[in-house]
Amino acid sequence: MSLFVDTIAGNHGERPPVWFMRQAGRVLPPYRKLRERYSFQQLMSDPKLAAEVTLQPVSELGVDAAILFSDILVVPQALGLQVDFPDKGPVFANPICKQSSIPNLRFDPAKLHYVYDVIEEINKTKPEGIPLIGFCGAPFTTYLFMAQGTSANHQFNDAIKLFYNNRKQIGKLLEQITDASIDYAVNQANHEIAAFQVFETYAHLLPVEIYLSDIYPHVKRLITAVKQKGVPVIYFPKGLGVGLKFIGDCGADFVSIDWQVPLDVARELLPKHIGIQGNLDPRFLSVDKTEVIVPELEKIRKFWDSNKRFICNLGHGISPENSFENTKFAIDWIKSNCK
Ligand code: CP3
Repeated sequence: MSLFVDTIAGNHGERPPVWFMRQAGRVLPPYRKLRERYSFQQLMSDPKLAAEVTLQPVSELGVDAAILFSDILVVPQALGLQVDFPDKGPVFANPICKQSSIPNLRFDPAKLHYVYDVIEEINKTKPEGIPLIGFCGAPFTTYLFMAQGTSANHQFNDAIKLFYNNRKQIGKLLEQITDASIDYAVNQANHEIAAFQVFETYAHLLPVEIYLSDIYPHVKRLITAVKQKGVPVIYFPKGLGVGLKFIGDCGADFVSIDWQVPLDVARELLPKHIGIQGNLDPRFLSVDKTEVIVPELEKIRKFWDSNKRFICNLGHGISPENSFENTKFAIDWIKSNCK
């Protein structure tokens, strides 16, 4: 058994499990080396390379779980949109906002089969006791990229205006994205994953009432489908804020908290049966260790002291400018000080 698997099942161990969103990637020196020879798309498409990159954070950083090396935008690729990954972030060749009408998408499940080969390769090569986390984007976050075509300004204003102008039609599109995401998630579960995380990175871009009425039902349908496979789910609604109060029936085992919400406030907003994951601001991984990071880690330790249904993570993914040394320092600190 593993600390992560035990904790997500509701049985805590002697310390919280720790893993970091975006732990596999540019902060790791061996990843950067591989990227000199291969594109991101090549790395995530080749089972041997993707498995190697997935497992790098386990040996380099000492995290308690591995997360599949892939991207949320492989679902739009399987829905027929062309997505490329140049260095500045993903770009769609023909985003929905630029099309003359809202398209009726055709999902080709075979386009995702390579991911299941990656999962099999990871399961063959991973160290014993290290669980694998699968994931996909939540339907709305996936839609934002499909409609806007890039995350260049992190605003997605055209995608949101298109949604406001066409709530019914975009609702149908969200339905299609959800169907594809469910097929993808269920197949990940069929190839063995220990948990599944749903990334709703842009929940903060809508008023909470509209998120709850138009978006949340799709998320719940996705979570329910994964839970039916017997796989625990972590839901990351970044920036939902006070909206956390209304997602007690989401069906997830854990909710991942962003860095804006204090952990004890999140604990009060969510019902007791839901565990808490979070929530160090990743920018702390770029500043002075002892003076600045340690007091923040102390806050996490204090939360753990009275909240054992807890997984230590960041409040958003590691970013490329974070330092490897500080990232490792934070993980080591949690492992040796939260007892
Ligand atoms: O967490 C992990 O280590 C697993 C792999 C993973 C990636 N993307 C790899 C990646 C995961 C879980 C994601 C999720 C993802 N992808 C999200 C949701 C979570 C979040 O961070 O908000 C989003 C919004 C995307 C879309 C995406 N993909 C963006 C905006 C970018 C560019 C920004 C960046 O971090 O470079 C990508 C590219 C991407 N996805 C990289 C990696 C390692 C960088 C690729 C490279 O150039 O080496």
